Amino acid sequence: MTSTTATETTVRTPSLPDGHRWETAGDAWGRRAADWAAFYEHYAVSVLQVAFDRLGVGPDTRVLDVACGSGLAVQMAHAAGADAAGIDAAERLVAIARSRTPEADLRVGTMFDLPWADASFDAVTSINGIWGGCEAAVAEAHRVLRPGGRIAVSFWGRGHLDLRPCFKIFAANSPEAHQQGMRRTNDIARPGVAEEMLEGAGFAVLERGMRVSTVEWPDPDTAWRAISSAGPAQPALEAVGAEVLRPQVMAFLDTLVDEHGLYRFRNDQEFVVAEKPA
Ligand SMILES: C[S@@+](CC[C@H](N)C(=O)[O-])C[C@H]1O[C@@H](n2cnc3c(N)ncnc32)[C@H](O)[C@@H]1O
Repeated sequence: MTSTTATETTVRTPSLPDGHRWETAGDAWGRRAADWAAFYEHYAVSVLQVAFDRLGVGPDTRVLDVACGSGLAVQMAHAAGADAAGIDAAERLVAIARSRTPEADLRVGTMFDLPWADASFDAVTSINGIWGGCEAAVAEAHRVLRPGGRIAVSFWGRGHLDLRPCFKIFAANSPEAHQQGMRRTNDIARPGVAEEMLEGAGFAVLERGMRVSTVEWPDPDTAWRAISSAGPAQPALEAVGAEVLRPQVMAFLDTLVDEHGLYRFRNDQEFVVAEKPA
């Protein structure tokens, strides 16, 4: 899509990812909302710590978390004294986020059309929310940030990923259309892709880094409930059912049990920090 200004400058308006319907994504992510909130969401603690540091999140900072899920980032930002807001497509995840942080401004909606005015925030975070093909969401983040404001976008990295075999099992059991979607979204981890997306929206990239994300589950049932609460598991669960999917996933997860009996699930979590020029 393009638009032409009075001075005949052509401005590219990023299009939405092919076939993306935020209501459908929100429905998938909301199906097992309590399991996500209790057993999985804390994977993001280590990357949120570094993101808040780089973004200067503290007392009175206005922070927006894009694709906030059940609201860990919002809860941590509020605890740091920030004025926190979040948006997610999954109504049931946002309901949990609201119950955890009633003071925050939490909305159900799409990152491609943020319901806030220009320059409303000092900082924007998005943890596994903005993926390859989501240029329109980066443009929206740029719009709602004040000049000089910063963004941190984080995504699964290219290195160690216990998730990789799980994603492969989900994909192999999902309809073909979902497999293509997963390949496109993971593009963001390729060197330069996130940077290009941010620079294309007008940001100046400051840093790229990585933190190890670790979650632990005490038994097979909890491990299964955690892993199967994620959105990408839902098309496979719908297509083949838990009776077929669970043994395949558990055959891999069982290889991760440590000497304490913990299922230790580790993944490289990369992040890019950028600034909206003043
Ligand atoms: C991997 S989860 C990450 C959630 C949260 N950031 C976290 O780290 O726990 C991806 C989230 O993106 C949300 N989502 C997907 N498409 C969206 C859209 N167009 N607008 C807003 N949220 C969206 C899903 O509902 C889901 O909560």
